[in-house]
Amino acid sequence: MKIGILISGSGSNMIKLIESCQNSKNAFIEIVISNNPDAKGIEYAKLKNIKTKVIDHKEFSEREDFDNKVHEVLLENNVDFLCNAGFMRIHGEKFVEKWFNKHLNIHPSLLPSFKGLNTHERAIKSGVKFAGCTVHLVRSGVDEGPIIGQAITSIDINDDKISLAKKVLKLEHKLYPKCLKLFTDKLVKVKNNKITFSDKAIEVLNDFKV
Ligand code: GAR
Repeated sequence: MKIGILISGSGSNMIKLIESCQNSKNAFIEIVISNNPDAKGIEYAKLKNIKTKVIDHKEFSEREDFDNKVHEVLLENNVDFLCNAGFMRIHGEKFVEKWFNKHLNIHPSLLPSFKGLNTHERAIKSGVKFAGCTVHLVRSGVDEGPIIGQAITSIDINDDKISLAKKVLKLEHKLYPKCLKLFTDKLVKVKNNKITFSDKAIEVLNDFKV
């Protein structure tokens, strides 16, 4: 499976996906695309000899034109599966349709709670006692789509948005590679919005059981 990764920033999740695919027979990271010319993750991908491309969203007046360019580059590189890894742009409906059920996102909250930005700050303010991260298939609503896996941590009395972000990011780094593996090793089947997890997939996700 040829994988494309979309990033906007530091790319720490991207690094974990790259590392996890390094010795895989089934998965190959074909290209990393960033909408942000200053994304730190681009440098790391280059160091690993992975093809990179900056498609600066500011150069496009319409969201659809930016989406079309990203899609074009993915097709040119024969990408067949897409992972958003800290990608901070919203995809238009047409783009989502094109990558339907072949497109994962990671979000630093226990979805469906705290979609969107400033998740950790909002979680702490709300008084919830648990936080975490979610890997899900991409749909057109922001941070919406069938959930593949979640990992959970507690919010302690002394946590602030920075300490919580650190705890959650650590979980993200474990969860995302495992969720991607479910697809590259064909351990899950998806029909429309229904995901069927094989016994092996359940075993993989059991690492995150509480
Ligand atoms: C991660 O916490 C990721 O879940 C979040 O941005 C951070 C980027 O980290 N993504 C979103 O909020 C998307 N809705 P990274 O660039 O180091 O992987």
